Amino acid sequence: MHADPGRNVSLTKGLFVTFEGGEGAGKSTQMRLLAEALSARGYPVLTTREPGGSVGAEAVRHVLLSGAAEPFGVRMEAILFAAARSDHVEEVIRPALKEGTIVLCDRFMDSSRVYQGITGNLEPAFVETLERVAVNGVIPDRTIIFDLPAAVGLERARLRAASDSPDRFEKEQLETHEKRREAFLDIAEADPGRCRVVDATRPADVIAAEVLGLVESLLPAEGNPQLSNTEKAQ
Ligand SMILES: Nc1ncnc2c1ncn2[C@@H]1O[C@H](COP(=O)(O)OP(=O)(O)O)[C@@H](O)[C@H]1O
Ligand SMILES: [Mg+2]
Repeated sequence: MHADPGRNVSLTKGLFVTFEGGEGAGKSTQMRLLAEALSARGYPVLTTREPGGSVGAEAVRHVLLSGAAEPFGVRMEAILFAAARSDHVEEVIRPALKEGTIVLCDRFMDSSRVYQGITGNLEPAFVETLERVAVNGVIPDRTIIFDLPAAVGLERARLRAASDSPDRFEKEQLETHEKRREAFLDIAEADPGRCRVVDATRPADVIAAEVLGLVESLLPAEGNPQLSNTEKAQ
């Protein structure tokens, strides 16, 4: 516990936390629960999502998720994702971190590595270049990867809302979703300082307690300013 509820806590530098994993893994649910828990402890919190999160990026989101860009190929899609991310980073995420906000983002650069890089078969150098340009030093301090068998996630996503028809990426084969699951686990293994894998098959409240612990451990002891990855990169 870092603060009394009802008290405003000011972080000298913000904290950037991203939520990654397959469809229906519980990213959006857990991001909401974490935002509530941190706000209740008095921290300033901003929740956002990709693709989208800024005015420019939300305009591109529709093009990407409707499948309108799909006929033009995965390179085109990857560049559009990067364009949206760049706008989101510069217009929303970086300014919020500078103000000391905890920024929680539903999908970020690891989704591009996995969806466009691994299952899109894009050359790694191309994906890495786009990532570098788009994030421009704004690297998550903590990435939580929600791990779940693809079939379970897709079933959850299907049940989510009757009106919620599957988007361009949800429609793909189970095999593709399993490949993505493995790719997220590979990212976690390659970057253990930033990433944590959470077993997403458990009840939401159990997961939420673990997620809060994973983020609280990065928050400063009171009066002890912390340095986000973004600041270190500058
Ligand atoms: N731990 C959980 N156990 C069972 N169902 C869950 C759990 N977490 C979320 N759900 C449900 O699964 C569906 C997908 O969750 P959501 O948070 O939207 O996933 P994502 O954002 O990763 O696609 C929602 O209907 C949600 O209520
Ligand atoms: Mg979601």
